[in-house]
Amino acid sequence: MLTTPAPAPDHLAEKRSTVRALLRLWPYVRPVRARLGSAAVIAVLASCVGLVIPLVLKWMVDGPVADRDPSGVWLGALYLLLLGVAEALLFGLRRWLVARPLSAVEAGMRAALYRHLQRLPVAFHDRWASGQLLSRGTTDLMLLRMFLAFPLTFLLVNGVTILVGVGIMLVQDWTLGLVILGPAVPVMITCGIFEKKYSAVARRAQDQVGDLTTVVEESVLGVRIIKGFGRHRSQARAFHELSHTLRGTELRKARLLASIWAVIVTLPEVAIGAALVVGVVQVADGALSAGTLVAFLSTALALRWPVESIGFLLAMSQEAATATDRYFEVMDAEVESDAVAPPGAERPVHRPVHTGSGRLGGLRFESVRFRYPDAPPDSPPLLDRVDLHIRPGESMALVGATGSGKTTLTTLVPRLHEVTDGRITLDGEDITALSREELRAMVAVAFEEPTLFSASVGENVLMGAGDGAGDEELGRALAVAQADFAHALPQGTGTQVGEQGLSLSGGQRQRLALARAVVGRPRFLVLDDPLSALDVHTEAAVEAALRQVLADTTALIVAHRPSTVLLADRVALLSGGRIAAVGTHHELLRTSAEYAHLMSGLDGREDHEGLREGDGR
Ligand SMILES: Nc1ncnc2c1ncn2[C@@H]1O[C@H](COP(=O)(O)OP(=O)(O)OP(=O)(O)O)[C@@H](O)[C@H]1O
Ligand SMILES: [Mg+2]
Repeated sequence: MLTTPAPAPDHLAEKRSTVRALLRLWPYVRPVRARLGSAAVIAVLASCVGLVIPLVLKWMVDGPVADRDPSGVWLGALYLLLLGVAEALLFGLRRWLVARPLSAVEAGMRAALYRHLQRLPVAFHDRWASGQLLSRGTTDLMLLRMFLAFPLTFLLVNGVTILVGVGIMLVQDWTLGLVILGPAVPVMITCGIFEKKYSAVARRAQDQVGDLTTVVEESVLGVRIIKGFGRHRSQARAFHELSHTLRGTELRKARLLASIWAVIVTLPEVAIGAALVVGVVQVADGALSAGTLVAFLSTALALRWPVESIGFLLAMSQEAATATDRYFEVMDAEVESDAVAPPGAERPVHRPVHTGSGRLGGLRFESVRFRYPDAPPDSPPLLDRVDLHIRPGESMALVGATGSGKTTLTTLVPRLHEVTDGRITLDGEDITALSREELRAMVAVAFEEPTLFSASVGENVLMGAGDGAGDEELGRALAVAQADFAHALPQGTGTQVGEQGLSLSGGQRQRLALARAVVGRPRFLVLDDPLSALDVHTEAAVEAALRQVLADTTALIVAHRPSTVLLADRVALLSGGRIAAVGTHHELLRTSAEYAHLMSGLDGREDHEGLREGDGR
């Protein structure tokens, strides 16, 4: 089961500050600060309006009620109604003010995350479980929006309300005020302890949501395998276990919340009770007016909610802080630098670059060494001093045992992974000296797994071309890749392919991926076993069409079958992390035992293919 191997940053070790974490949101909140600020002011106002109500009550009890003046009581009731309506309207206005800008903040942050994910190197995605990324883009951002909408404002509003309310109470009667203030210190201490404990549990819960998302995502994408192997029970069990763990964590959160509520609710309640007793005694002694006691107690009751809500406001702030941490863990990951490396800065350039020199043209690998960043440090590099020259316009087949690093070698050309040492040049130019955009416009790729997107067939193919490409290029590419079936689909090339192209056959997907690779008429073509899913006749037809395309394209083609190898001018054998032999198919068959072994006994088509090559050129 995938968990997040992503190194959890030192958020556990370092004493982490909630406020500092949340302050990182400022750049995203900045654009809406005016609205958020005015909403907060309005909320404070609304809250203070609520605090005027007890004062009106006092006036009513000591005035019209004591004087038995019904018209005065009616007037007081009217005041109360107006105050209530004003409070409600102000709170409504606040909500209206923040709703739209905050969804804009959420959308903005989500867009930034997505943009960033697109620019992160493949090595990052190798390391991170997709569910963790998904949950950061969904649950965590939702938590942040909720934080900005409620806790952020209401921690302020409640703070001000409590201060004003306590002030009013002290002015009414300072002895009673002090009785009410009694629990303040223990409540604050409890909040401090709570915050620390809650922060750790909140983080755990959010990470577990990420793991759960990964399981769901994998089982949806892998539903065919799961069903095919009858693994739905074990998959369900894995899900159940994870969700059980998550439930435990959530329960722990609930228990923490419950304990802080117990303190926050009970202590003030006791204090109010004590104040009531003291107040009644004072009224009986004539030291206090009944109206003052009413005002005092209703103020105290009005403060109950602001005090009680502090518990879950703090909880939500903690969750928002951990969500912010999780969000920025991704945002802080280093993207592929798009800056052109200054010569010699990133890695030593071994030889001066002779641009345009015929001898150095084409695609060259020079002493290329590569090790996956997450490979154990003491393991030998996967590719060790690979030297290979593919001449301009030449197509070179790359052959090697499974797991020998062929796919890896192809990913180095468009810089999906960075070479550990050595360099790769395109027509004499070091690929690190090109911007990624230039590089990827020059090199087109098709990988073993033909990935299609939820879009139309045409859009999927035209992804491989510049912006100006249209139906003409599309038709040509489909013809080259023998993907003319696309025209016969229900809506032609406008037909939507399902998620990951699952509504198409494997060979159909492969041909569309191939069409995507050739549609932009790239100068360099890197194909990772592009024809593996095709039958012999279709493969032969694709080969014939590709030969025309490849005539002016420099191509590196990973091949497993002799029939694919024969497409190429020469063959390179990758073995033991280096190029062990280069030559034509027949030369290598004679000179390299390993090559002969690799090519023999595959499907016995060798002779037939050999014949075809003989008369094919
Ligand atoms: N992202 C990765 N991180 C670490 N190791 C990897 C990664 N991808 C592949 N490897 C390892 O690198 C080795 C070479 O893999 P690669 O996919 O390049 O082989 P291949 O020659 O294309 O094999 P095949 O013929 O089966 O396609 C394998 O041992 C594999 O385990
Ligand atoms: Mg491979």
